[in-house]
Amino acid sequence: MLDMPIEKDSFSEYVSVDRGRQRFRVDRTAYSSAEVFERERRTVFARCWLYLGHGSEIAKPGDFVARAVGGRDLIFVRDREGQARALFNACTHRGSTLCRDAAGSARVFTCPYHGWVFGLDGALRDTASKGGYGPAFNADGLYNLVPVPRLEVFRDFYFINYNPAAIPLVDYLAGAGDYLAMIADQSAVGLEVIAGAQSFSCYGNWKLLIENSYDAYHGPSLHQSYFEFLDNRTASTNSAATQSGFGRGLGNGHGVFEIRLNSGRPVAQWIPAFGEAAKPLIEAVNAELTGRLGAERAERVGQRQRNTIIFPNLVMNDNLAVSIRSVYPQSPTRMDVKVWAVGPADEDPHIRKIRLDNYLTFVGPAGFATPDDIEAFELCQRGNDHGAPGRWSDLSKGMTADEEFLHAQGDFMDEAQMRSWWAQWDRLIAGKDRLSMGES
Ligand code: FES
Ligand SMILES: [Fe+2]
Repeated sequence: MLDMPIEKDSFSEYVSVDRGRQRFRVDRTAYSSAEVFERERRTVFARCWLYLGHGSEIAKPGDFVARAVGGRDLIFVRDREGQARALFNACTHRGSTLCRDAAGSARVFTCPYHGWVFGLDGALRDTASKGGYGPAFNADGLYNLVPVPRLEVFRDFYFINYNPAAIPLVDYLAGAGDYLAMIADQSAVGLEVIAGAQSFSCYGNWKLLIENSYDAYHGPSLHQSYFEFLDNRTASTNSAATQSGFGRGLGNGHGVFEIRLNSGRPVAQWIPAFGEAAKPLIEAVNAELTGRLGAERAERVGQRQRNTIIFPNLVMNDNLAVSIRSVYPQSPTRMDVKVWAVGPADEDPHIRKIRLDNYLTFVGPAGFATPDDIEAFELCQRGNDHGAPGRWSDLSKGMTADEEFLHAQGDFMDEAQMRSWWAQWDRLIAGKDRLSMGES
């Protein structure tokens, strides 16, 4: 193995690789420094495709959500023609925040300050007070709402990019596109974000939540009570030990772990705890999946579980239920998190009930996993901020001496997927990759 060509390692000061000792480490200041935080804004969040929302959140013309993405306030709206748009949520008169509702349905957006009125397409319609502006004042559209430079969609998942010359979304997603597709494939008619979202804010650098989200290694220790519950529920003796699967980098910093675990899935793995009434319903889901996708793909989509990170800040938990999490860094040591549950738009109400129950049991805010996970990464941040000795955090598990980090592969209990994330983070922070088709 050691005589294979080894990629040239030239990492920034924040990542330390020692191939001889098979060590991959990250400088802990990357989790607390204001300078790194500011650099991430410029080199990561201003250049990567960032998740905006799902098409089902703005199903009808006039539907909108207002959301801060990459530190900037946006409106995600469906215009009268049915086209989805991403507009900056700022009035072009003096820059006031325009829309103060988090979501709703609108015919126009009216600024609370002087009353300028904008259409759903962003065009300035009215300046409220009669007169005062020449006929050419907005002839060139200068005062229309400003669209985000790029908005693209993949299987009804909408992403924005602040760099006008960014590479296309589909190229950016690289190997992660198939993992989004395996979620979208769970329904013949499309998915829907189930009404409502969970929002929380916690202490800790945003990257701690990202790492935690596809860190299977901590499962048996941190979530011991969950695995005991699962053993009870599935009449199994050791659910934690019977999991198997892989972890890997998917290109451009995206990564995943994928496992088989007999914990039950609304699409589409029945367990006795779901009850006999659910059995034929889930069998019918399986039959539909097999007919549409073929047996092999249907097995993978329906039976296996995946936690995927779309670089930089999107978590797709396709496990006991499907949830989307977006992490919004607020400061070096504070993050906001939004979580949406997702399911097939035409799901049987009984399965939907099981889905929501499964979702709340594990990843819900008071579920078996999330409170423990938050506690764990808050402890990491606390250690970091309170003088933990040593400069480095370790992410070496499963590393081989000749690993190609962006596409690292290993057992699901290893840390290959995190190394792929950090390798991409490092390239961006160091300015080695701008994810751009031009100079901008
Ligand atoms: S700031 Fe919006 S109308 Fe004046
Ligand atoms: Fe966890």
